[in-house]
This record gives sequence, structure tokens and C-alpha cells, in this order.
Amino acid sequence: MYKLPTFCSMPSGVSLWPRMFQASMKLQNEGYGRCTKVSRNVNLERLQKDYLFPEISKRELQHLQKYPNAKLISLGIGDTTEPIPENIALSMANYAHALSTTGGYSGYGAEQGNQVLRKAIVETFYKDVLIKDTEVFVSDGAQCDISRLQLLLGSKVTIAVQDPSFPAYVDSSVIIGQAGDFKDETRKYQNIEYMHCGPQNNFFPDLMATTRTDIIFFCSPNNPTAHAATREQLQQLVKFARDNGSIIIFDSAYASYIMDDSPRSIYEIPGAKEVAIEISSFSKFAGFTGVRLGWTVVPEELLFSSGFPVINDFNRIVSTCFNGASNISQAGGLACLSSEGFGAICSLIDYYRENAKILVNSLASVGLEVYGGVNAPYAWVHFPGSKSWDVFIEILEKAHIITVPGCGFGPGGEGYIRMSAFGHRESILEASWRLEKLFS
Ligand SMILES: Cc1ncc(COP(=O)(O)O)c(C=O)c1O
Repeated sequence: MYKLPTFCSMPSGVSLWPRMFQASMKLQNEGYGRCTKVSRNVNLERLQKDYLFPEISKRELQHLQKYPNAKLISLGIGDTTEPIPENIALSMANYAHALSTTGGYSGYGAEQGNQVLRKAIVETFYKDVLIKDTEVFVSDGAQCDISRLQLLLGSKVTIAVQDPSFPAYVDSSVIIGQAGDFKDETRKYQNIEYMHCGPQNNFFPDLMATTRTDIIFFCSPNNPTAHAATREQLQQLVKFARDNGSIIIFDSAYASYIMDDSPRSIYEIPGAKEVAIEISSFSKFAGFTGVRLGWTVVPEELLFSSGFPVINDFNRIVSTCFNGASNISQAGGLACLSSEGFGAICSLIDYYRENAKILVNSLASVGLEVYGGVNAPYAWVHFPGSKSWDVFIEILEKAHIITVPGCGFGPGGEGYIRMSAFGHRESILEASWRLEKLFS
């Protein structure tokens, strides 16, 4: 048994034993180490253990040990599965190959992204809403820009999130120091406004009951609920932000899945440019989860309380903390937005949409309360009166399917399960059949 060296000091006011136990367990797992005199960032200490996905992986492993012959299907982590269309992959390969030549070599590019790609993003996604290419910052993915935006905003701002929501908003907020302690009773951090979004309120927060915050993270279509906010809902949100002098950080990572007339960008709402930043991604749009490419729009009209343009500070953050997306990924991004590439990507999106339809229809056919599957590649399934983890275990145990317990996305997700429609068609069909059998 490893013994902690006596020179390891513990932060005062913290119970020693659980921490010592954790530390010794960690050291046992990672090998022998010697404590430095550097104390741990208190914000990271405040962060809850990364519980959800490691716990799912642990249970997956245990399940495979228990049932070595089980044909496990994963509807868990929302990662794309289908190959990138060949012309897009080729454009990246050609670009990479050209780097080996004198004529084709290029080093650092503009921190804000390739000018041609910025123009193509505007042309493809913001043609009718008058966003300028200089307001688009190409990134290595939306998740990275969530953290860069937190760096831009600093620790003093207050934030609101949809509940449930993509965990990176809350976690990055804790890391930067905006949040208070985590309260076990409520499963919430102090100083964060959790805006409950469920079927009772058509997945849109009751803004009359929402406390004003500086920043409002809002994701549409939402991960995990798959709800795309309607035009009317987004008009209310923009008005709320304008009335309160707040900034919306609008995450449109799944906008390309929208089938109805829900807005694909917050800038479709008049007045949004003065109150909203938009983050987006090639990940779910083009299967670039591994390639890494995204963008953020910061309109010139968006100002801090002093009148200073937010875009100027974001430009500074990007130049200091980033240095630009990979030129190979950007070549791929440009190929995605060519007419041939875009057509191929639309077929890919249609494929996942069809998966979502199959899954949702199966779940509904056995009387389950299921949401989503139309404007986003997720099914959000309600099991009233049950705990998410209990349902997760039942589905795993009886159908050999990995899902995601909804409580991992915030307290508002308790009692729900998220199922991803990213997968090969045969797996989705097999999973749908097993789920029908389990719940009928
Ligand atoms: C809502 C949402 N935003 C952002 C991301 C991260 O996107 P990226 O791969 O571009 O970092 C995800 C990934 O699942 C997501 O669900």
C-alpha cells in the first residue's frame, strides 16, 4: 500500500481522509510521485469528478467481462461514425502532401482563419443575415472556443445555462472561477442560473422566473434534449438579453440537422447582433470530430458596458491563446463548403437523420415518451419516476446497449436517457429492435 509522503500538505479546512485516500488511489494508479510545493488550482478542486463518461466506460468494461460474447451496441457518446466524403478527405490529403513541396509549404496562417474559408462560412451559413467575414473566427472546434470565450469573459461574470445542457458550459465556468460550490442536495453549482427546459415548458425556459445573468449559454438544437428553439422562443430570448444587457453565447453545433423552419442561427432574430456570440462546428456537420474545425461569430455591434467592442478582445484572445486552426483542417473545411462537398455532406446528414427517425419511431411504437430525433441526431427518452442510472443499467443488462444517463447533463436530465443516432445503419436497426423487445 502506497503511503503519502509526510511533506504533502492538505488545503486547510478540508477533511483529510477522503482527500488522502483519493490522492493515494490516484498515485497508485499513476505510479509513485513526489509532491511539489505548488497548490492545486482551487477552481479545479471545486469541479465535480468527471463522472459521466468514465463511469459509462467502466460499466461497459464490466459488462463485457460479464458477457464476453455480447454484441454490445453504443448509442452513447455522440461521435460521428460514417466516413468523410472522399473529395473532402482528398483535399486534406492533397494539402498535406503539398506541404512537402517548396511551392506548397505554408507555416503559420492568420490566427482568425483562412480568409477564403471565412468568406465561405459567411456565404454558406450567414448569407441572409449580413454577417461579415471579418466577424468570423475559424477555430479548432466549438468546445475549445467555449473555453476561449470564458477566458475572454473572466471570473467576475455570472452565467445561466439550459438545464439539461452540454456539460462544457458549466465545467468551463467552474474552471475559470465563475461558480461557487457544488451543492449535493440540488446537484447544482452556486452562482449558476440553471434554466429548466423540459416538456412542461416546451424545452424553453420560463424567462419570467429566470434571474438576470451577464451571460446566457443557449444551445439550439440542444444537446441532449434535441429541441430546436422556435423563432418565437428565440425572439423572447433575444428580447430578454437586450432588456437585461446580457450576452447570449449561442451554440449552433447541430444547426445543420434542423428540418423545420426553426432558426439555424441566432442572427436570424432581429437585434441579436447586439447581444449574441455564435459558436459552431464542422464536427457533427461534416464528421470532423477528429479533424477538428469550427468557428465563432462575434459581431462588431456587440459591446461591453464601457462601449469597448467585444470583437477586439476576442481577437486578442485568439491571437494570444490559439494561433489558428490547422491549415490541413481548413483545407478540408473549404472542400466541405464547395458545391460538391456540400452535397456529399447533406447526404451524410440525411443518413444520420434517417437513423434518428428509425430510433425514435421504435421507441414511440412501444409507448415510450420520446423527444427529439427530428432536428437533432439524439433521442431524449423520459422514464417518469425512474432514475437515469437505473434505466441505463436495465438497458445495458437486458439489451446490451450503451446509452447516456440524462442526469449527466444537469439535474433537469434526471429520469431521462439520451440515445445517439450516430452509428452504422445496421447497429441502429439492431438497437431499435432490441429496445422494442425490451420495452414492449
Ligand atoms: C452542443 C455541443 N457543442 C459543442 C460540442 C463540441 O464540438 P466540437 O467537436 O466542435 O468541439 C459538442 C460536442 O458534442 C456539442 O454537443
